[in-house]
Amino acid sequence: MNKGDVSQGRRRFLIGATSVVGGIGVVGAAVPFVASWNPSAKAEAAGAPVTVNVSKLEPGQQMTVEWRGKPVWVVRRTDEMVERIQEMSDRVKDPLSKEASQPAYIDGPLRSLNDPYSVLIGICTHLGCSPQYRPEVAPADLGEDWLGGYYCACHGSKYDLAGRVYPNQPAPTNLVIPPHRYDDEFTLTVGLDPEGAA
Ligand code: FES
Repeated sequence: MNKGDVSQGRRRFLIGATSVVGGIGVVGAAVPFVASWNPSAKAEAAGAPVTVNVSKLEPGQQMTVEWRGKPVWVVRRTDEMVERIQEMSDRVKDPLSKEASQPAYIDGPLRSLNDPYSVLIGICTHLGCSPQYRPEVAPADLGEDWLGGYYCACHGSKYDLAGRVYPNQPAPTNLVIPPHRYDDEFTLTVGLDPEGAA
């Protein structure tokens, strides 16, 4: 490198450094304007996808993720819970979720994209209460036929462990499944469809 190259390089650096400082000044001055000009930015952030790591969930455990102001339940189901869901298929109202609100890439009785995890919006499809997670079998208050699921105390709707509603309940349809995807076995994003799915 000759002397000309060095001074040219230095000049380029100086110009670059000045641009960065100037850039900070411009950004600083622009923020109040952008904030008042774009009042929906906060609303957009509230609707943004949410990514969580589900690796710490123990078998049978449920975690709640907030997405768009709604509770989203993620459960790591045990083999036994999966068997109980299969057993419930001829007792629930809509076993294959034909009437349910769920993405097209979810099907089958388990309603799961990535076994053993389930992802459900934790809001009753009747009038919007949040049901309780009741994974136990035959508790005294829910009766001998109860094989685990969700119970809405507001008006008594029952759902199984896949969020499928029992017949003759106030709730008309199965619990809703939000769009979601896994970027690897344990990295779940709620609010985005899997690559290539719409
Ligand atoms: S809101 Fe759940 S049963 Fe009515």
